[in-house]
Amino acid sequence: MPTNDGGGFEVETRSRAQCDVADANAVVRAITEAEADVVFNAAAYTNVDRAEDEPDAAYQANAVGPETLARATAALGIKLVHYSTDFVFDGEQERPYDEFDAPSPQSIYARSKLAGERLAAAASRRVFVVRVGCLYGRDGRNFPSTILRRLRGGETVRADRERLGSPTWVRDVALVSGALAHTEHFGLYHCTSAGQTSWADYARFIADKLKLPSERVDALPTSALPMMRAPRPRRAILENRMLRLRGLDTMPDWRIAAEAFIRASGTLP
Ligand SMILES: NC(=O)c1ccc[n+]([C@@H]2O[C@H](COP(=O)([O-])OP(=O)(O)OC[C@H]3O[C@@H](n4cnc5c(N)ncnc54)[C@H](OP(=O)(O)O)[C@@H]3O)[C@@H](O)[C@H]2O)c1
Repeated sequence: MPTNDGGGFEVETRSRAQCDVADANAVVRAITEAEADVVFNAAAYTNVDRAEDEPDAAYQANAVGPETLARATAALGIKLVHYSTDFVFDGEQERPYDEFDAPSPQSIYARSKLAGERLAAAASRRVFVVRVGCLYGRDGRNFPSTILRRLRGGETVRADRERLGSPTWVRDVALVSGALAHTEHFGLYHCTSAGQTSWADYARFIADKLKLPSERVDALPTSALPMMRAPRPRRAILENRMLRLRGLDTMPDWRIAAEAFIRASGTLP
């Protein structure tokens, strides 16, 4: 069912069952049926740990998928907005990464996402690759809702005080994506909220805003938390340089965005 996102696009979504992004026939059929002017590709294999054991599945969705979409959109003469990740960097650089810093992916997931960026850009001139990170939104799993549920349930939340990121509301990414898609400035973009925080401070911020006991957020070093199968960047901070240079960086500070999300979700007591 088409919906109007307010950004001048009527949006139609397709589930995986309706359109596997690595299936060229399904992709062309879906785009043609929708009479789309722009395709926004948020489909991906996102289980970062499981990808270590299922590299072909990760590359199929994250590399062959965007390549297939780019070929199809190029053939139909339309634009593609494809989402990638801050994980293409190793997180060891002290300053934020801009679009001109060399990637250094550390996991299968990250390598497959970088491959997707490159294959999509090679297959079509009319591609925007938008790197995002630390997303939350109304639907699906998200950090604010998990914190809320656990603290309300009387649990203690163990959170990393060393890993840093810029929590980013998908609504803000959607607004920028819509604005970008109205331009012909194809290429690579970083798109995260401004500012940075640790996961522990992020959890405490949410607890404070919801008037829940932030002292029940246990801020721990990475080494005290369960070891994860795939490595994650320690400091995945992106600078939205290209959005800024194009006059399109409307991404707010992460704290402003998180408060707006909580208000919009109606979860403030
Ligand atoms: N969430 C974050 O913090 C974050 C951070 C950085 C970058 N990103 C990027 O942002 C985008 C959206 O992420 P997300 O968190 O919304 O991911 P998500 O919740 O895991 O959703 C991805 C969706 O893609 C579907 N999918 C997987 N393979 C597919 C295929 N071959 N064809 C069609 N659909 C397929 C999945 O279906 P199934 O459930 O059936 O597998 C799932 O519905 C991705 O490109 C991701 O890499 C996200």
